[in-house]
Amino acid sequence: MKLLVTGGAGFIGSHLVDMLVEAGYTVSVVDDLSTGRLENINPAVNFYRLEVESEGLEEVVAREKPGAVLHQAAQVDVQRSLKDPLADARVNLLGMINLLEVCRRHGVGKVVYASSAAVYGHPAYLPVDERHPVVPQSPYGASKLAAESYLRIYSDLYGIRHTVLRYANVYGPRQDVSGEGGVVAIFVNRLLKGETPQIYGDGEQTRDFIYVKDAAAANLAALGGGDGMTLNVSTGIKLPVNGLFKVIKKTAGSLLEPAFCRPRPGDIRHSCLANDSARRELGWSPFYSIEEGIRETVAGYV
Ligand SMILES: NC(=O)c1ccc[n+]([C@@H]2O[C@H](COP(=O)([O-])OP(=O)(O)OC[C@H]3O[C@@H](n4cnc5c(N)ncnc54)[C@H](O)[C@@H]3O)[C@@H](O)[C@H]2O)c1
Repeated sequence: MKLLVTGGAGFIGSHLVDMLVEAGYTVSVVDDLSTGRLENINPAVNFYRLEVESEGLEEVVAREKPGAVLHQAAQVDVQRSLKDPLADARVNLLGMINLLEVCRRHGVGKVVYASSAAVYGHPAYLPVDERHPVVPQSPYGASKLAAESYLRIYSDLYGIRHTVLRYANVYGPRQDVSGEGGVVAIFVNRLLKGETPQIYGDGEQTRDFIYVKDAAAANLAALGGGDGMTLNVSTGIKLPVNGLFKVIKKTAGSLLEPAFCRPRPGDIRHSCLANDSARRELGWSPFYSIEEGIRETVAGYV
């Protein structure tokens, strides 16, 4: 089957493309390189530099005729979404609508969408499962959620099959130090440069860190299952930031201690997503322990 990956020059998208190529798929990539990098793009793909919300997308889909689209392209910076919500919506919402219109017109069979834990907002209970209320706390969370709704509507109206994957904090090689969930990239970069990393608050806040290859594998699994479903892609493990720091410090062979600074207003204290549905519906489960994932991440930065 031919596949189109949007955002295939980015952090998660480029790992996904590598995995798809390895699995024998013919892959094309659309990316505007706003945060993605040319050197991330697998040489085996046809690459189109353009914006997902642009008219040019139609020509790409008409030419490549993908059977499915894995939609990873997004404006991923929560702070930027607060400063410029229109720009965020242009990419995350109008980009999705444009993609769906093109998919409808060209008979694309399935869209797998990279959504986010940000759609849930502050957890009412833990671990957060897919039935948890969705109360996003930023324009980014709102645009990701609205895009999910459009996807479901296009499924209902026009029969485009779909799976929504809501990622927890994804980490791994090629992650930018800005963007969503970049704490691993920031710690690794700082420690390798011999600079003191900062921890906001007491460091006992927890997050659910999923390795990028596990997130990519969930996308592959969604090509063959999970139709009509919304599934968390996570480890289901609450890891304190202090614990994460210890693993990175040990792996990087650093002696540096973190500097603790004031907590950031609005930060969620604990976050963890249940992954039972993805395990059941996709036959997928996370393969990497935090130690293994951090080992590959540190190796990717040196
Ligand atoms: N990294 C995480 O922890 C995380 C968590 C939850 C959800 N997600 C989602 O995963 C997806 C990938 O995120 P990432 O972390 O790899 O970020 P990233 O910034 O590395 O990747 C996004 C890619 O999309 C491209 N892009 C941005 N705007 C575009 C546009 N208008 N047209 C075409 N391409 C465009 C960028 O150049 C980049 O290559 C996003 O949809 C994001 O919302 C990421």
